[in-house]
Amino acid sequence: MAKKNIGVQGFTLPMPQTILGSRHDGRNNFMALAWVSRVNYNPSLMMISVGKRHFSNVAIKASGEFSVNVPSVDMVEVTDFVGLVSGSKLDKSGLFDVEPGVLENAPVISKCPVAIECKVFDSMELPNDTLFVGEVVATWCDEDVLIDDAPDIKKVNPFTLTMPDNRYWGVGECVGRAWHDGKKLK
Ligand SMILES: Cc1cc2nc3c(=O)[nH]c(=O)nc-3n(C[C@H](O)[C@H](O)[C@H](O)COP(=O)(O)O)c2cc1C
Repeated sequence: MAKKNIGVQGFTLPMPQTILGSRHDGRNNFMALAWVSRVNYNPSLMMISVGKRHFSNVAIKASGEFSVNVPSVDMVEVTDFVGLVSGSKLDKSGLFDVEPGVLENAPVISKCPVAIECKVFDSMELPNDTLFVGEVVATWCDEDVLIDDAPDIKKVNPFTLTMPDNRYWGVGECVGRAWHDGKKLK
């Protein structure tokens, strides 16, 4: 099959769709976040990339803390909404109930089956965004999504994002076992 270069897109398919939680001046803030990944095993580090103009960026720089919340498919609309409106224009704190966590400024969204609290470990200024590396201090899961203390993807029922077509997708079937199926080729 012939390949076509579609330019400097740089988007993997799919991207996880999450909600970034932060807190500034005593007010929780939430924004849609898809540029997020685990980046180190021990300590457990995650990276998030947050636009310099976003209220969340200011909040995280001030507090040194944030949360990454994983919504289920029944939260598509509210997740998209917090990606459309800035906390500098609208108080988004009332959109979600939150649970007490370990950190003061990393709101754990009650309705999200998985929520990860992070403390800023390092950061790097990029031309448009700040790359924050966060150290995971706690991972909160609804007990009913856990199987042997690991979140079950079918029960969590997360959704993903594709760009540049800007669509949300559910997750499909399990197609293999990691660190296992390749052994057949050894
Ligand atoms: C689906 C989706 C994914 C997004 N992912 C990111 C992201 O990974 N990083 C980012 O900086 N902005 C991202 N945004 C944009 C912010 O969520 C948006 O600008 C938001 O209003 C910023 O809110 P704040 O100013 O309250 O922080 C995304 C928006 C949408 C709709």
